[in-house]
Amino acid sequence: MRYAIRASFFDFTSRLDDVTFASQHARYIEDGLLLINQGKIDALFEWENRDQSPKWHDYTFYDLRGKLIMPGFVDTHIHFPQIGMVGSWGEQLLEWLEEYTFPAESEYQDTAFAEQMASTFLDQCLENGTTSALIFGSVHHGATEALFAAADQREMRIIAGKVMMDRFVPEALCEEVSDSYQQTKQLIERWHNKGRLHYALTPRFAPTSTPALLSAVSQLKREYPDVWIQTHLSENPQEIAWVNELFPEHHNYLAVYHHYALTGPKSVFAHCLHLEESEWQCLAETGSSISFCPTSNLFLGSGLFNLRKAHQHKVNIGMGTDIGAGTSFSILRTLSEAYKVQQLQHYSLTVAEAYYHATLGGAVSLSLDDKIGSFMPGKEADFIVIDFAVTPLQTLRQSRCRDIWERLFVLMTLGDERNIRQTWVNGRCAFQRHEMHA
Ligand code: GUN
Ligand code: ZN
Repeated sequence: MRYAIRASFFDFTSRLDDVTFASQHARYIEDGLLLINQGKIDALFEWENRDQSPKWHDYTFYDLRGKLIMPGFVDTHIHFPQIGMVGSWGEQLLEWLEEYTFPAESEYQDTAFAEQMASTFLDQCLENGTTSALIFGSVHHGATEALFAAADQREMRIIAGKVMMDRFVPEALCEEVSDSYQQTKQLIERWHNKGRLHYALTPRFAPTSTPALLSAVSQLKREYPDVWIQTHLSENPQEIAWVNELFPEHHNYLAVYHHYALTGPKSVFAHCLHLEESEWQCLAETGSSISFCPTSNLFLGSGLFNLRKAHQHKVNIGMGTDIGAGTSFSILRTLSEAYKVQQLQHYSLTVAEAYYHATLGGAVSLSLDDKIGSFMPGKEADFIVIDFAVTPLQTLRQSRCRDIWERLFVLMTLGDERNIRQTWVNGRCAFQRHEMHA
């Protein structure tokens, strides 16, 4: 199908080496026309230049004036089997895992349940404007299959993997290294690069991994060098002390992963709150990325992510909701909390930087920026149609904004999934919210 959509448009036209210049790479077209052909971006013009490409007259036309269209959000860290346990009270990381997370993930043993949940989970992503994500599955082969199948059906570009873990977890979730290796291999063979899907090797974190398991992960990365790797790093002080106890031969937490060659341009480390200088350097030197998960970091009381430090070291950052330690699927809400986390450290996150991390910057951190994240011709047509105001407060506040930057800042401060009117995936409208009255 071919579509021509008239609306306002916002994106970033190139990846950034220095995000402090994000606003210079932003493009805002107040009245524009987006052409979509066979799932791809064909062109984006100023409305007044539309007849530079008269073919648009043959396309299905939608007039969405008054709405803002931007690339779909990229969630760089989220857990599929934790959708049912968001908002579990009272604990910090290690106790929270024991008390809530492992029992919740155990339910994904039941593949029929997992199939049902995979649909719910991905529909939540779409409803929140998230079109791509790097996703932790559960330890179960069948549940991970269910997630890939549901994403395939929705034509979403996702990267996901079965969790690998072989110690300090309940027996029902504990694997033999050889099974973990075999099942992961099968999933890679079946799903990696099938349609829009990709595989990520997913060792949960160092404490639940024996050296033998980490060697198996390393082996799989050697066998399939273009797969991604995702794990957790330096989230909580007790966790870090535990890693030091379990791996005394390595001089810090990241050195454990680095020893097994799990760092690199396709590796994404969630959290990274309490890094030593040499860990920052290692992330930078290996081209590894970080997922910044502010709602989770605040909810579990884990700490404050230091964005300034990430910039100094030129480490790529993406935004992560980290459902179920995170408290919302909404990247808008996540940006709002990111701003507050930086305020506490006297760093004023700019609006341009925030939306960069949520879109093209997220795609860069996942090495997907050749395919998604902006409206450059040839990219895949994953985008969201936004209502600036869907509540009386938003309407009032937006009416007092003087320019697009103020409007976008108010959107991320007061906005959430209610502001996502439509979500388009691969050139098709995959979610449509019904009319709301502000
Ligand atoms: N570290 C190891 N597993 C997890 C998890 O499921 N969530 C978070 N936030 N941190 C982890
Ligand atoms: Zn996580």
